[in-house]
Formats: sequence, structure tokens, C-alpha cells
Amino acid sequence: MTVEFRAGLEGIPATQSSISFVDGQKGILEYRGIPIQELAMQPENTFLETAYLLIWNELPNREVLAEFEHEIQYHRRLKYRIRDMMKCFPESGHPMDALQACAAALGLFYSKRALDDPSYIRAAVVRILAKIPTMVAAFQLMRKGNDPVQPRDDLSYAANFLYMLNEQEPDPFAARIFDISLTLHAEHTINASTFSAMVTASTLTDPYAVIASAVGTLAGPLHGGASEEVIAMLEEIGSVENVRPFLDDRLERKEKIMGFGHRVYKVKDPRANILQHLAEQLFEKFGQDKYYDIAVELERAVEERLGHKGIYPNVDFYSGLVYRKLGIPTDLFTPVFAISRAAGWLAHWKEQLAENRIFRPTQIYTGLHGSPYISIDQRT
Ligand code: CMC
Repeated sequence: MTVEFRAGLEGIPATQSSISFVDGQKGILEYRGIPIQELAMQPENTFLETAYLLIWNELPNREVLAEFEHEIQYHRRLKYRIRDMMKCFPESGHPMDALQACAAALGLFYSKRALDDPSYIRAAVVRILAKIPTMVAAFQLMRKGNDPVQPRDDLSYAANFLYMLNEQEPDPFAARIFDISLTLHAEHTINASTFSAMVTASTLTDPYAVIASAVGTLAGPLHGGASEEVIAMLEEIGSVENVRPFLDDRLERKEKIMGFGHRVYKVKDPRANILQHLAEQLFEKFGQDKYYDIAVELERAVEERLGHKGIYPNVDFYSGLVYRKLGIPTDLFTPVFAISRAAGWLAHWKEQLAENRIFRPTQIYTGLHGSPYISIDQRT
């Protein structure tokens, strides 16, 4: 049988899934069939409702949602030994590495594994969604030499994270925008980190190992790490006047423009449209960001130069500007992405377990055969 090789598995289905749908030509993203704009912009939608929808394939009624929120609140705290472990992390370490280590460490504390028991699945989902924000905020405070603050049960998931991070209760409007942004990043079909979660899940290991491998995959600059790189790039550009010279220079050196391009979208990412709108709302309320004008000009210039190749802003282009305005440090952008994408990873973990077959693709061998062993003295 001849097997066609496609780098990056482009266009090759890795699974069957009913969790989310993307039409990259029309710019459509749906979670369980609901268009992302409709879901995210519903005043009553929250990230936890979105997570429930993705994982259990139904919008929870009031009672079910209240119970889920209550469970999450109850499990937000970290074991003191995890906090002690974090004290040994170097302050200069990247928060994604800290998060990956903490996610994996959960497996040490919750080692029981019962993958065919729905109550085990639920407990793992709750624990992971509850603890990841606490871990991210705790690392931020601890690397500054402060004690982590305890989560507050009277605050929503989004507001509580901003509170734990900035040590003050957030403005309700800022918390709402953050909540929408969490929903926007929660799921996106079989991207690299989700694929890595599924491969790990397919070995029937524990859910903490699944999340740890996904976190490690999300960290790369071609994936979740791009939002951080976007801000660095806008800083480097420095002024609207410098946008075009910068772009010419980058393209001449055949370098990628961060926050642009997507394997699936050949039009502007629908999430980028919403995030741009949210950024504008935040600037109106809390003051302008000098990098926004640069970003808009860069989008215009990239469209002129690369629009014919289908290169438009992706989700990471405007998300950093939103996060900056919410007081989130640049190197926490990707961990914040992980807080929200954990919902999608868990949905795929659960879906994978329901019809599991271990991932074991093939390869096209390009090496030698029957080569002689050369003894060390004879090697050049
Ligand atoms: N800037 C300039 N040119 C680009 C860009 C870009 N950002 N993205 C793609 N291209 C060009 C690329 O040079 C190539 O041109 P040619 O056909 O002439 O050689 C063509 O478009 C196809 O690019 P590719 O790299 O083969 O596309 P891919 O599907 O393998 O990569 C991507 C997709 C997202 C990795 C890539 O667009 C990229 O590196 N973008 C910048 C990093 C980024 O913003 N990543 C966030 C991705 S979205 C959120 C997420 O996944 O977390």
C-alpha cells in the first residue's frame, strides 16, 4: 500500500469528533454546533458553562451549572506540598514550565485511576479546571517573593483568577471581558496541543499526564506562545510609521509575522474579530494602548502583502492586547491560554476514552539498511 506523506499531517483526519467545528474558508467556529460569536457574546454565558458544554455535550440548566460551579470553587485550593514544590522553582523560569510541572505533580497526589468510572472523570475534570488558575496565579506571586492569595468563593471563575493574580478584586467589566476571552480560547478542533493530549490519553495514562503534555505542546511559539511574541513584535515596531519598513524587512528575511496565518483559516480568524472588538471596549473604558494603532496598521499592511496567501490575523494577534489591559504580564499569556484550553483538552480526553484505540501512526523510512558497525577507533 502506498501511503502519502504530508508534513505536519496537513489535512489528514486524526480522529472523529463532535466537540468543535471549523470552516477555515468561511471563518466559522462552532462549539457543539453553536457558533462562537453567538455563544461568547451571550450576556449569560460563562467560561464554566462553555466548559460544561464542551465536556458533557449539553448546555447545563441552572441547577446543574450551579452544582458544577460549586464543585470547582471547592477544589480551587492547592495542596501545601504543591506550593512548597513551587517555592523551589527558579523565579526566572517560564510560567508555562511551572504550570507543566504542577499539572504533572497532580498525578502524584491523585494517583487513583478509574478511567471507566464517570465519577472519576468528573472529579478529574473539576480538579484540573479548578486548580490550573490557582497554580498560574500562585507562581506569579511567588516569583515576586509574595505568598499566593487564597481563592475567593464569592467571585466567578474569571474574576477570581484576576483577583488571585493582581491581589485586588477586578472591575466587573474587566472580569466579564476576561470570561469571554476564556470562552474564545476554550477549544479549537485538533490543534497541536489537543492532538498531543489525545495521543497521551490514548495510552490510558492519568489525566494529569494528559494535561501536562498538552501544556508543554501549547508553549511553543508556533502555537500558544505566539501571543507573547506578538507583543514583543509590536514593541519592536514601536510606531505606526515603522510598520511597513518592519514588515518589508521581516518578509525579506523570510521570517514569519507572529499572530498571522493559520493551518485551517484562510480568512481572518473569527476569534480575532471578537478579541479586537473586546480590546476596543477595554481601551474605551480603561484608556488606550499605544500598540493598538500599530497592530491595526500591521493587519492592514499584512493583508496587502500576504492576503492572497490567506494570511490574516489569528486568535493570538489581538488576545495579548486584551490581556495587557487586564494587567496580565506578557509571559502569562500562554498559561492563561492553557487555563481556558484545558476545557477543550478535557473534552477530547473524555471523547478519546469513550472510543479508545492507541495512536500508533506509521512513518516513511528515509534511512539506510544493513549498515556496518564502525568501531570507535576507526571513526573519523
Ligand atoms: N507570516 C508570513 N508568512 C506566513 C505566515 C506568517 N505568519 N504564516 C504563513 N506564512 C506563509 C509561509 O511563509 C508560506 O509561504 P510560501 O507558501 O510562499 O512558502 C505559506 O504562508 C504557508 O505557511 P506554512 O508555514 O506552511 O503554514 P502552516 O499551516 O504550516 O503554519 C502557522 C501555520 C500558524 C504555524 C503559521 O502561519 C505561523 O507560523 N504563524 C505565525 C505564528 C503564529 O501566529 N502562531 C499562532 C497560530 S494560531 C493559534 C494557535 O495555534 O495557538
